[in-house]
Amino acid sequence: MVVGSGAREHALAWAIAKSASVVVTPGNAGISAHGITCVATPATDLEADLFVIGPEQPLVDGLADALRAQGKAVVGPGRDGARLEGSKAFMKEFLAASGVPSAAYGTFRDAAAAVAYLGTMSAPYVIKTDGLAAGKGVLVTSDFDAACADVRLKLSGVAFGEAGSTVVIEEGLDGTECSLLVLCDGTHVLALAAAQDFKRVGDGDQGANTGGMGAYAPLDSLSHVEIEDVMSSILAPTLQELSARSIDFRGVLYAGVMLTSKGPKLLEYNVRFGDPETEALVPLYADRLFDLLVRVANGSLEQATAASSGHAVTVVLASHGYPASSRHGDVIEGLGPDGQLKAPLEGVIVFHAGTSRNAQGRFVTAGGRVLAVTAVASSLNEARRRAYEAASLITFEGSVMRSDIARAALKGER
Ligand code: AMP
Ligand code: GLY
Repeated sequence: MVVGSGAREHALAWAIAKSASVVVTPGNAGISAHGITCVATPATDLEADLFVIGPEQPLVDGLADALRAQGKAVVGPGRDGARLEGSKAFMKEFLAASGVPSAAYGTFRDAAAAVAYLGTMSAPYVIKTDGLAAGKGVLVTSDFDAACADVRLKLSGVAFGEAGSTVVIEEGLDGTECSLLVLCDGTHVLALAAAQDFKRVGDGDQGANTGGMGAYAPLDSLSHVEIEDVMSSILAPTLQELSARSIDFRGVLYAGVMLTSKGPKLLEYNVRFGDPETEALVPLYADRLFDLLVRVANGSLEQATAASSGHAVTVVLASHGYPASSRHGDVIEGLGPDGQLKAPLEGVIVFHAGTSRNAQGRFVTAGGRVLAVTAVASSLNEARRRAYEAASLITFEGSVMRSDIARAALKGER
């Protein structure tokens, strides 16, 4: 049973379906068109051998605890572990306690104190909502006045409600970002291939932060030594601290890491599969994913290995106005009745994020991020070429897409 309704859940269910029968709750139009059963029944009213919880909100709300109380096997931390994502202030305190390298910070509920703290920092200024904000609660700016205005807006409750009633202000870090998703069975960890997400809406990392406009994996530019460094300086002390706090974390620990000139520093933890990283990562494991997830839930990861094969590039197509707004109902051209490319391309899978069907049965936009188009190939170059060729075959009015996903990586940059 996969819980959630986006492209991440589509990718997870697609891979699990290679080894087991899978149902998604609630899923979406594109997932069911792809031959995967979707039901509206809440997860706690369903029977399954394994529950995989996709999004952060149900984890923060304690869904994993409720399912475990029923004796179910679950991939996803309980409410205690989910606080690492649910509250940035908690996460920063946790990192400080465990000695994980991370940006210097302050936590504020009062605008005057926050602005005074900003005055002691140098640009770029980083302002975050404490609570969940679908990837949109972070401003990074070099403009001091814009930073102050953002602090006031967040604390006013107008833009982010309760999630913004506390803000975290951080030292700006410089470097390359990567996403290291680590499977965790409560005791042991197993890193998946490193991935890179493209968070800004525009090419060249311009414009507003989004939920993610594309991804690729693996990150060949990241050496084994660097990955080992992240595992020993960031993940190992995190596991120790989880254990010290008696938090039995069974799920995905997603480390958002900045590779700085002074070594890797943790930007944030997410407590679930990343979106869109998962749409790029999952096809590299495909029929091995189910076994790995079972091991996460039952605590037997120690005997597993997680070698990935091939390269994947994911390009997100978002709807008109994203991320400030989204538009529903625009007809999507280029998809067949199964929600996949009408004219199939080798190695391409179209994962549906925000789609529905109109009265004529056509796929239409139904959210900010609409589709995540993934291509897998034996080289990054070919995967990227196929992903963009596929994306060009899918059109709808006002679609928003980046054209530079994985471009720098092709040149050996990162
Ligand atoms: P977060 O949700 O905390 O990962 O922040 C969203 C994005 O904002 C990150 O992916 C980074 O691109 C950027 N960001 C967050 N914190 C910092 C920081 N301390 N310094 C520089 N950029 C940051
Ligand atoms: N890709 C960013 C996230 O899943 O939060």
